[in-house]
Amino acid sequence: MANHYITFRDLTKEEYQALFQRTSHLKKARRDGLYAYPHLGGRSVGLIFHKHSTRTRVSFETAINELGGHPVVLAANDTQISRGEAPAHTAEVLSRYLAAVAIRTYEESELLELAAHSSIPIINALTNQQHPCQVLGDVFTLIETLGGEPLEKQLVAWVGDGFNMANTWLEAAGVLGFGLHVSCPPGYEPDEAILKRAQADNPRVKFFGSPKEAVKGARAVNADVFASMGQEEEKAKRLKAFKNYQVNAELMALADPKAIFMHCLPAKIGEEVSAEVFDGPASVVYEEAENRLHAQKALLEFLIPRL
Ligand code: CP
Ligand code: NVA
Repeated sequence: MANHYITFRDLTKEEYQALFQRTSHLKKARRDGLYAYPHLGGRSVGLIFHKHSTRTRVSFETAINELGGHPVVLAANDTQISRGEAPAHTAEVLSRYLAAVAIRTYEESELLELAAHSSIPIINALTNQQHPCQVLGDVFTLIETLGGEPLEKQLVAWVGDGFNMANTWLEAAGVLGFGLHVSCPPGYEPDEAILKRAQADNPRVKFFGSPKEAVKGARAVNADVFASMGQEEEKAKRLKAFKNYQVNAELMALADPKAIFMHCLPAKIGEEVSAEVFDGPASVVYEEAENRLHAQKALLEFLIPRL
């Protein structure tokens, strides 16, 4: 079976340690002007987007080019999937052309169906349930700021919506062993099964009613938009429900004095984060965006066998 990357749990802690080392190497090499690693040897990688994207699309296209491959980008209405062709048939066909497919869509079940019928790696480029490529780059970003302190000893806080990003941070805490304090408004909690599994794997994963309690002593404070892609019509209701969940200077003051502010982007300034925190010295948001590129190069090398 191909090596798929559907959820953060698809790799082990040891595999992540190797990926983070490789990411660091690729980042340094690129800064020294060494862009091209011919790992893909002319092979093509499909990128399917059923939702909008800036970072995921550009970082994957660039990563594939720099690895000596060719990205084939398909938008929502370009494929026969949008006209009802079975994902299973699509997977069989794409496996004959491509070295891997990254797909951004609504339901994880669609990825699982593609993966079940695909002999090439299927990569989750965001679903309603997960965003593993983002958290891969984010954990690497956190590690970079620790100056050699062990990741396992750290406490990360999640404040806001218990949607795809929160679920994936929970998976990451379960696999990698760092502490995670999550606070979401009632009715917007993370996936119950994911939360329970993370807590079973890691007793330092905790849920808090109050964001102030959740961020106490945290080394990283994470936010995400209050209304994700596909939830636009719920915006007014969500703004009300999330009004006490903004990451601002007052909240950051309760975290560790060395705490960083993290956000996958895109952000809505004045909603989930204040301008002061977003543009302030603790913010690593653009480093996270850059690290998507380096981490995804390492991931593609790992998932796609060398010729
Ligand atoms: N963070 C992220 O995935 O950004 P895009 O939606 O722009 O790809
Ligand atoms: N939770 C956000 C993440 C965007 C990268 C969304 O799904 O829209």
